[in-house]
Amino acid sequence: MPLPAMADSAFASGAPRLPQVPRWQSILRSFALAKDPLPVLDTTLRRFGDTVQLYIGGVQKSVLTQDPGLIQHVLQKNHRNYAKSQFTQGFARYVGHGLLTNEGADWLRQRRLIQPGFHRQRVASLTGLMQEIVAETLAPLRVQAAESGGTVAVAAHALMTQLTFRIIARSVFSTNFAAAELDRVAGLITEIQAFYVRTIRQPYLKPWLRLRGQFRYHDQLTAELRTLLGGYIEQRRQANAAPGAPAPPDDLLQMLLDVRYEDTGQPMTTAQVLDEALILLIAGHETSANALTWLLYLLAQHPAEAAAIRAETAAVLASRPPGAAPAPFTFEELLRLSRAQYAVQEAMRLFPPAWMVDRVALADDEYQGLRIPKGTLFSLYIYGLHRAPQYWPAATEFRPLRFAPGQEPLVPAAYAPFGGGPRLCIGMQFALTEMQLVTLELLRHFEVERPAGQPPVPTQPLITLRPRGDFALTLRLR
Ligand code: HEM
Repeated sequence: MPLPAMADSAFASGAPRLPQVPRWQSILRSFALAKDPLPVLDTTLRRFGDTVQLYIGGVQKSVLTQDPGLIQHVLQKNHRNYAKSQFTQGFARYVGHGLLTNEGADWLRQRRLIQPGFHRQRVASLTGLMQEIVAETLAPLRVQAAESGGTVAVAAHALMTQLTFRIIARSVFSTNFAAAELDRVAGLITEIQAFYVRTIRQPYLKPWLRLRGQFRYHDQLTAELRTLLGGYIEQRRQANAAPGAPAPPDDLLQMLLDVRYEDTGQPMTTAQVLDEALILLIAGHETSANALTWLLYLLAQHPAEAAAIRAETAAVLASRPPGAAPAPFTFEELLRLSRAQYAVQEAMRLFPPAWMVDRVALADDEYQGLRIPKGTLFSLYIYGLHRAPQYWPAATEFRPLRFAPGQEPLVPAAYAPFGGGPRLCIGMQFALTEMQLVTLELLRHFEVERPAGQPPVPTQPLITLRPRGDFALTLRLR
């Protein structure tokens, strides 16, 4: 049954009820939704307005919204009334109860404990390590390119995933990982996530998956992952306790081991340290990898933007005292290299890694006259928010300069790649620095090109927004 589209916001007209996608339509669409969700959701919102009620997978009633005011209400203004939904909490079965999946008083206690480890100064001290890893990753590509006429073809998503996983793994665990184990940990995380997303998006498959032993199998993968990481944590504890042990590495694991609860003066238990370290690995690499992959995709199509980043880099490097090495960049220099920052922000606008954020209402609530009953499940549709033409002029175009001062979005709340409110991404500063550095270093050494005649790269929104499959880029030595 077609319902009238709403003008501005579903609530602006004082509508007492939300437009609804009838259940039968949701069921019909659930297959299309499982296959390629973004076009289905975009079409739905174009038809019904910024906010609509529908059934995920034909089963779970949910409010889908790209209304910036409502998103802000849920994440920030009345955040106390909203918890993460059963979807995020169900993920805890596989990844434990680290910050991302934790709730309530326990979450707050952990957040307060861990937050200082992500302060700006702390991130500034990691920029050297980040640049080392970027240089290590790019060096063999430069050799390969030099040996084959100046170009090397790379699989963009695989390369960015490898790079960001190295960065977060080394930032958490320093150098303890052997390369093969690093790949195994990354592989386990990917496989577990893909399975979990499938159980959410196609809940009707659960009995069949159970029958085929898929739940048991993925529980085993989880156990393997925890054993691997637990081993590293135990090694560190033992190394720290050894008589005459050298000063421990200044990494995020050591931060997790050293912090003490204010009230009890006690450290975290081993299980808590494991949960938090695992969450940092999970939350801290795929998101950045996807944002960087999409950024390279966009820069390959917009060489003038890449040139603008290089020109600014050259100007900042030229302002150094004579004789200084050309890189690495200092944290202060990164603050002046704004063209790369704008490009990163714009890539995350068009392709927000956290494309959907979920919440559930803990008690009855109200927003602009709309009654929100206890238990309402919200799907905060960040991808739609970032591309809605009513909030973004030339919404589908890559225009990094829209993030320059004085060019703020029409509605500031229309940009939320790191979420908002008290659960704002704890790794935001880390991620922004990392992405800027990768962009600067890549563009310093290479032109980034896409082989001619390639079709657009389709999206695959799992927990994060990645490209479907992978795609080739040509890196041309400069
Ligand atoms: C481009 C990169 C990243 C994006 C787009 C991103 C996005 C987000 C978003 C949207 C949330 C909030 C989710 C919600 O409210 O339900 C979040 C939370 C979180 N992120 Fe990130 N993130 C990124 C990188 C990182 C990195 C590098 C780390 C760690 C080093 C990290 C660690 C976390 C953690 C631990 C949380 C949970 C915080 C809490 O609930 O207290 N993220 N992230």
